[in-house]
Amino acid sequence: MSLVFENVSKRFGALSAITDVSMRFEPGLITSIIGPNGAGKSTLINMAAGSYSVSSGRIALDDRTISGLPKHRIARAGLSRTYQNIRLFDEMTALENLEVALFAEAFPHVAAELLWPPASRALKAARRARCLETLQRFELDGVADEPARSLAYGHQKQLEIARALVTRPRALLLDEPAAGLNHAETDALRRRLEALKRPDLVMIVVEHDMNLVMSLSDRIYVMHQGRLLFAGTPAEVQGNEAVQEAYLGAPGEHDAIQAAAEGRTHRVRLRANADIARHQHRAASG
Ligand SMILES: Nc1ncnc2c1ncn2[C@@H]1O[C@H](COP(=O)(O)OP(=O)(O)OP(=O)(O)O)[C@@H](O)[C@H]1O
Ligand SMILES: [Mg+2]
Repeated sequence: MSLVFENVSKRFGALSAITDVSMRFEPGLITSIIGPNGAGKSTLINMAAGSYSVSSGRIALDDRTISGLPKHRIARAGLSRTYQNIRLFDEMTALENLEVALFAEAFPHVAAELLWPPASRALKAARRARCLETLQRFELDGVADEPARSLAYGHQKQLEIARALVTRPRALLLDEPAAGLNHAETDALRRRLEALKRPDLVMIVVEHDMNLVMSLSDRIYVMHQGRLLFAGTPAEVQGNEAVQEAYLGAPGEHDAIQAAAEGRTHRVRLRANADIARHQHRAASG
């Protein structure tokens, strides 16, 4: 199954956030979307997931048009995403955050479960086992019963991906999975994402960490001011002059692309992430 954008545009009032973008995301590959702040990366994810409508054009999973469908129908078609700013259910435990994600899937069985309690118990137990197994894969089983709000920031970022995966999606869209992670956490994330690659899974990563992008991606789309500027392999992106120029206006990222091109290890914190600030505030206030 491929995820396809065909001549997609998005306008917010007078602002053209996305202009005539066509992209194809193939299963079995990790495809990254990069570009300076405001380039339109999150808007692409939000349109694919049905959080934003498209102004024109079409988004399809294989031959099936998904743009125009409500969010839950798109989720049921197999598209799963994480958010740039963490969106967990704070008061629920890590395990419950995953169980909630499975609720939509369980819904058709609810009537049957009510009519025949033993079936209900068996199905619930099966769902719980699946959630626990997913937590284990992310080394989060030790905090399964902790409320999400009390987890370390790095664990919260992992939990979001675990929640997106527990529904066994066919397309996984991650919006800045490495934002705010330290070196070791980013390395662990890289290994985990590589381990998730499957011939039938479309993986899309929006990311500012250029070391991660260049080492992880099979293909890269470069966005600039709402338009697709360039598409290619990591080596092609690093060698492209238009890409370098687009990033001149965003010094941090230009440095990061340069550093990645030169093979230096160099992490660039691009901006104060509101998420991190919120987390630190929460940690400080107990
Ligand atoms: N809901 C919205 N209403 C109005 N404008 C929006 C909305 N969402 C995004 N935009 C605008 O669309 C443009 C693209 O934003 P988007 O969030 O997609 O950028 P991005 O590439 O994800 O940037 P960043 O790297 O900072 O996350 C920006 O000018 C942004 O202000
Ligand atoms: Mg964004």
